[in-house]
Amino acid sequence: MNDKKIALVTGANRGLGLESCKELAKLGIHVILSSRDANKGKKQVEELAKQGIVVDYVQLNTDDEESIQQAIEEIKKKYGRIDILINNAAILLDATEKTDKKILSKTFETNVIGPYLLIEAVLPMMCEHKYGRIVNVSSQAGQLAHMGTEYPAYRISKVALNAVTAIFAARVRGEDILINSVCPGWVKTDMGGPNAPRDVEEGVETIVWAATLPHHGATGCFFYDKNKIMW
Ligand SMILES: NC(=O)c1ccc[n+]([C@@H]2O[C@H](COP(=O)([O-])OP(=O)(O)OC[C@H]3O[C@@H](n4cnc5c(N)ncnc54)[C@H](OP(=O)(O)O)[C@@H]3O)[C@@H](O)[C@H]2O)c1
Repeated sequence: MNDKKIALVTGANRGLGLESCKELAKLGIHVILSSRDANKGKKQVEELAKQGIVVDYVQLNTDDEESIQQAIEEIKKKYGRIDILINNAAILLDATEKTDKKILSKTFETNVIGPYLLIEAVLPMMCEHKYGRIVNVSSQAGQLAHMGTEYPAYRISKVALNAVTAIFAARVRGEDILINSVCPGWVKTDMGGPNAPRDVEEGVETIVWAATLPHHGATGCFFYDKNKIMW
């Protein structure tokens, strides 16, 4: 029986997802790195092993309900539970102020519906084991208090992801299941681009912090640099 915490990270074959796996594993957490492309994900598992960081792997396309169910079943069979879920996978398809129906729908599917279905899938296990930490990797681009105009589909999706956080946090309030949104800042990844001021190590700090909050920690909040920010 594994008494380490079990963490599942989505979209973990690169960027902030990959770095989250690395940092959580360094804390002694048993990490399951997931990716929609098995080759890309397994390659990263091997690269981490070369650095002495051992993580498990599961294939998981967050756009595909069947893939979500299969991945969760696989983990349930192997470990009996998931203690930590990092809803990291996301897409940014629109660059300007203009977007279209296809981009709005696609972005909503990946950035909102996937995380929603994953939380629905893991929450019963967390309730049964009376422990859970869920981190929805959001963005200040979705902060209603300071709304901008570029990439509207992405912004709307992160506003909705924050609603997902609030809804599920309210559902399990009072239990040791803490569900929060975090913004990693503007980070050098494929999504953030080379001009971003932060490297991934700094970007994941608040993600890892929210994933390891103590009993009675915050829930139903939005954090940036470990500070609560307005929706
Ligand atoms: N970088 C920033 O400046 C920044 C700022 C604020 C918030 N964020 C948020 O931080 C998170 C990670 O961003 P990042 O910068 O690391 O992005 P990234 O480098 O573009 O990585 C995104 C990851 O998500 C995966 N993904 C996309 N759709 C998926 C799906 N349907 N199923 C499974 N995986 C999927 C990608 O897999 P593939 O390789 O298969 O495409 C990739 O591994 C996102 O939620 C993003 O919105 C980033």
